[in-house]
Amino acid sequence: MTDPPDLILRGIGELVTNDPARAAAGLLGIVENAAVAIRRGRVAWAGLLEDLPDEYFDLPDLDCAGRAVVPGFVDSHTHLVFAGERGGEFARRLAGESYESILAAGAGIQATVRATRRAVRDSAAAGLIQSARLRAEHMLANGTTTVEIKSGYGLNVPTELRMLEAASAVGKLVPIDTVGTVLGAHVVPPEFADDREGYLRVVEEEMLPLLAPLARYCDVFCDAGAFTVAEARRILEAGKRYGLKPRIHAEQLAATGAALLAAEVGAVSADHLDHIDAEGAAALAAAGTVATLLPVASFSMRTPQAPARLLWDAGVTVALATDCNPGTSFVESMQFVVAVAALETGLSPAEAVWAATRGGALALEEPDKGWVGTGAVADLVILDAPSHVHIPYRPGSNLVWKVVKDGVIVVGDEPGEG
Ligand code: NIG
Ligand code: FE
Repeated sequence: MTDPPDLILRGIGELVTNDPARAAAGLLGIVENAAVAIRRGRVAWAGLLEDLPDEYFDLPDLDCAGRAVVPGFVDSHTHLVFAGERGGEFARRLAGESYESILAAGAGIQATVRATRRAVRDSAAAGLIQSARLRAEHMLANGTTTVEIKSGYGLNVPTELRMLEAASAVGKLVPIDTVGTVLGAHVVPPEFADDREGYLRVVEEEMLPLLAPLARYCDVFCDAGAFTVAEARRILEAGKRYGLKPRIHAEQLAATGAALLAAEVGAVSADHLDHIDAEGAAALAAAGTVATLLPVASFSMRTPQAPARLLWDAGVTVALATDCNPGTSFVESMQFVVAVAALETGLSPAEAVWAATRGGALALEEPDKGWVGTGAVADLVILDAPSHVHIPYRPGSNLVWKVVKDGVIVVGDEPGEG
């Protein structure tokens, strides 16, 4: 493979670096009138344009004409691979039915499981790849450069396997990095309705060992109507035996104690947390578990938001993600997530942007992403706006001018422009 071309971004009106060495400039480490030099897909230098070292002067350059630049968004919680849609169910929820009652009646997640199994029967992974690829392209066009993708709509070994194969295929078809997570314990599938123990053993003994090479993490939907804390502990410990680190859907629908379990098992991330309390927040802070908040899921469910301020002020590392899925959060744009977070959860625009970039990178244990400085992966978003504040200020807009992935302009590279 040839090296990506070198590139200098000049004329950056506002550069969000998220660099702790620039903490004097605030959480986002903002540099105004900045430049970024990129070599071999990494940031070689970032700082004031007037300080740009001579050695970079002759690199090919792009004038950002005063625009803002932020690190590529890291979407650390998605269910990107699925078949079908659930618009009818969404309308029923708006008319008053609950998510839990729809699930208990065999629809909800189970409807997507039926559609996903059918798609795999009809076309192996091909149909799943095609729809997931389109969603990943939309994500990239909206500034996401890394995306976590869970299984969990197969709930049997062959379909779960196809889901994770589709997830990794997407990462080869679209210039976006993908990270796989096994979510075999999403809900109990109908054929095991009377034998939960039997299904737990399928996940532990068959699914996790077979799927481990395609994934980095093991996740469990630990909540009312899904898995108990004791069941989740079993699955997450089993995942560890196959090298899969734990992350967990916790406290979304009810207060269950799942956040304490996350801390106990050393989960990399605990996600949703709409019902977490101060004790749970303190436990996550002490364990170093990232709190991944999914504000568009709560927005779409019209339920109260997670206590983002409590978590942040307790010293928990906060990430934001889309939760992109056909049930609770059919959204691909991290910009929209930042907007809902800033408008509805009590995070400031700066905190929301940090959580959607650096927070997401930490939730996926990718230390070289989510910041801009020497050695960082050159994943950058150039906004058609003067400041990161425009992301929540103009909700629903796609403010992306160009996206740079691994040092290459992959969105907005029209000939004759720039
Ligand atoms: O993260 N809560 C569990 N899983 C998804 C919803 C999946 C679905 O409804 O299809 C979530 O919100
Ligand atoms: Fe989820």
